[in-house]
Amino acid sequence: MRRKVIAGNWKMNMLPNEAIEFIQNLEKQVKDTQNEVVLCVPYTDIFYSILNAQGTNIKIGAQNMHWETTGAYTGEISAEMLKSVGVEYVIIGHSERRQYFAETDETVNKKLKKALEVGLNPIVCVGETLEQRENGEATKVITSQTEKAISGLEANQVEKVIIAYEPIWAIGTGKTATKEDANEAVKQIREKIVEIYGQNVAERVIIQYGGSVKSTNAKELFEMSDIDGGLVGGASLKPDEFAKIVNYNK
Ligand code: 13P
Repeated sequence: MRRKVIAGNWKMNMLPNEAIEFIQNLEKQVKDTQNEVVLCVPYTDIFYSILNAQGTNIKIGAQNMHWETTGAYTGEISAEMLKSVGVEYVIIGHSERRQYFAETDETVNKKLKKALEVGLNPIVCVGETLEQRENGEATKVITSQTEKAISGLEANQVEKVIIAYEPIWAIGTGKTATKEDANEAVKQIREKIVEIYGQNVAERVIIQYGGSVKSTNAKELFEMSDIDGGLVGGASLKPDEFAKIVNYNK
């Protein structure tokens, strides 16, 4: 049985004092869950979040990283830097980074390799636009993004990758994919991994759904056969709401 990983993506929100308060509140509400709880916080919250999450079942992640270890890359943060302060997860290739910050399949692949090398748990995002879905290209887009992201990885590395299927039209719009459509897309991603690495490897890969996940739809989505939890944006900014999502199976 694959574990369920429920990760919040705070995006560019939350000051350190808000992060501390959030974690102290959330911790009490999620301490009994069997699900993996992750908060992907802004860089400026990482240190405070890690200190406050110590001794709890909340893991801290970042939202981006660079693929080089050190160097003249003004404004960038390396995987080693994240690891050195206790970060355990990192989001790679979020659609907002692909759209606004020129992230490509190639940079996603480089970052993914580096994250694995350093021992961070990568959460790689794939997803189609509304136009691509309406043109019947969704499957092609998400399987191609997946294939390019994991290109060149060994089987034992692929098993450690978390993929988040996030249809772009569902992000921050309040429109959620139906549970059937989301499960189907996740299955197609898994099929692509079967094609390259075989059934055994593909069965171990965690594939989340993201896009307007809320406490009212988390259960039906996360109970689908292939959906292994979620990557949650807006609804991860309120501790009570995020706790309900984490505790969807209670
Ligand atoms: P929303 O949950 O706000 O739609 O955002 C989803 C997302 O982009 C998570 O990475």
